[in-house]
Amino acid sequence: MSFDYKIADISLHEAGRHQIRLAEHEMPGLMALREEYGESQPLAGARIAGSLHMTVQTAVLIETLTALGAEVRWASCNIFSTQDEAAAAVVVGDGTPEDPQGVPVFAWKNETLEEYWWTASQIFAWPGVDEDPAKGANIILDDGGDATLLVHKGVEFEAAGAVPSGTEEDPEEYRIILETLRSSLAENPSRWTGVASTLLGVTEETTTGVNRLYQLARDGQLLFPAINVNDSVTKSKFDNKYGIRHSLPDGIMRATDVLIGGKVAVVCGYGDVGKGAAEALRGQGARVIVTEIDPITALQAAMDGYQVSTLDQVVGIGDIFITTTGGKDIISAEAMQQMKDKAIVGNVGHFDNEIDMAGLAAIPGIEKVEIKPQVHEWVFPETGGRSIIVLSEGRLLNLGNATGHPSFVMSASFANQVIAQIEIFAKSHKVRPGDGSYQNEVYTLPKILDEKVARLHLPALGATLTELTKDQADYLGLDVAGPYKPEHYRY
Ligand code: NAI
Repeated sequence: MSFDYKIADISLHEAGRHQIRLAEHEMPGLMALREEYGESQPLAGARIAGSLHMTVQTAVLIETLTALGAEVRWASCNIFSTQDEAAAAVVVGDGTPEDPQGVPVFAWKNETLEEYWWTASQIFAWPGVDEDPAKGANIILDDGGDATLLVHKGVEFEAAGAVPSGTEEDPEEYRIILETLRSSLAENPSRWTGVASTLLGVTEETTTGVNRLYQLARDGQLLFPAINVNDSVTKSKFDNKYGIRHSLPDGIMRATDVLIGGKVAVVCGYGDVGKGAAEALRGQGARVIVTEIDPITALQAAMDGYQVSTLDQVVGIGDIFITTTGGKDIISAEAMQQMKDKAIVGNVGHFDNEIDMAGLAAIPGIEKVEIKPQVHEWVFPETGGRSIIVLSEGRLLNLGNATGHPSFVMSASFANQVIAQIEIFAKSHKVRPGDGSYQNEVYTLPKILDEKVARLHLPALGATLTELTKDQADYLGLDVAGPYKPEHYRY
């Protein structure tokens, strides 16, 4: 078997395989799904275009999808997040570097934005697809919505008859997306309509991608069904919170080796990610201050014992600033100029527009010093060497400076992904016209499946669940086997 792929260094495959082997031990949810579905092969015939951080944990996800019968092509959803050894092991699979038998991966650590969007287009470049769209991907597995965006923009521009030229005001990345689509349409003017025609749906990993999907659905523009994996309770209330509680301090420490204890840490946003971030920093002994726009989450932060302020009020006293909002323009260049000498600034929200990196770079006379990859000191001109430290150039620091969330919590997230893929593949209205369960809207997984994911992880932690008696279940109006909470329950 030969296939196209592009990674940093295939000779890293053994190191990757060792890490994958250890990760499998920590990913009981995915391994249980392999056990449950290995024989019945519910994903036989599925061709999955995956766009999600190409880490060791994702390698276990990819190999679970293939163990259930799927064919897969993969790219990372962030220019810094790939673990090159994991990518190499996935490509090699059961083969050798000379004769790889695994999965085509297009991902390496430190991509340029042009390379990033090229890799995103490669996950749709299935052999023979230009001649016959039926050979293309039939499901997307997305994280942040870039793969979904590429298809929707491609279809939009095909219908309009041209890709717009873009203006100087457009963000650089948008102009790169336009260029990527322009060159793909020059090769095949109906490529994206063809790609969209075979897609049964998408399963989306994160808050930001899910927000994009709901906007497309609201505007009647969603081209295929979508499952919102993020809002499975066993995803957002675990990965976003407990995952970041682990990987945020890991990233700060690997990047800077600065003692967090005793410092003033400012966490912007107190959603699921912000809650995990604040808890981790407090756990290290930092004095944590939270900023919020939502009175409910602001009140939660206050009741959890954090000072709640605006960034303006605390910009001069913080030692560490972390954005977690999924919004934009949270820390301006002006704010960064007011920070203390050697203040650390980083982001764990999905996109890099939370921190105004362009504005920082545009300060006349500012100097950027690379301390090491993904750690930069920005020296202000007028203040006698005063500087701040920016991590991962404002992109996800827990993946850029560390290796993302640990395996156990990703097992819960990815078990939801696998179940969502099986659901879409079996029940999209495109595969079952007339009675398909999933129309061109955004769905969350049924609660009973969410509970199943949690159940798969309990034994590994030595947790024993109490079973309802029939009598107790009747009293509560429940089924003994679940679901145990109504849809509106908030956990
Ligand atoms: P969320 O919606 O639960 O929380 C975001 C919070 O930020 C909300 O409470 C909101 O009110 C607040 N916020 C919005 N604008 C603000 C502003 N200008 N100032 C202060 N607060 C503001 O979302 P969640 O799940 O916490 O995710 C946040 C981001 O993190 C998303 O982009 C998500 O995709 C990403 N994410 C990153 C992960 C990682 O590994 N780094 C893991 C999971 C999610």
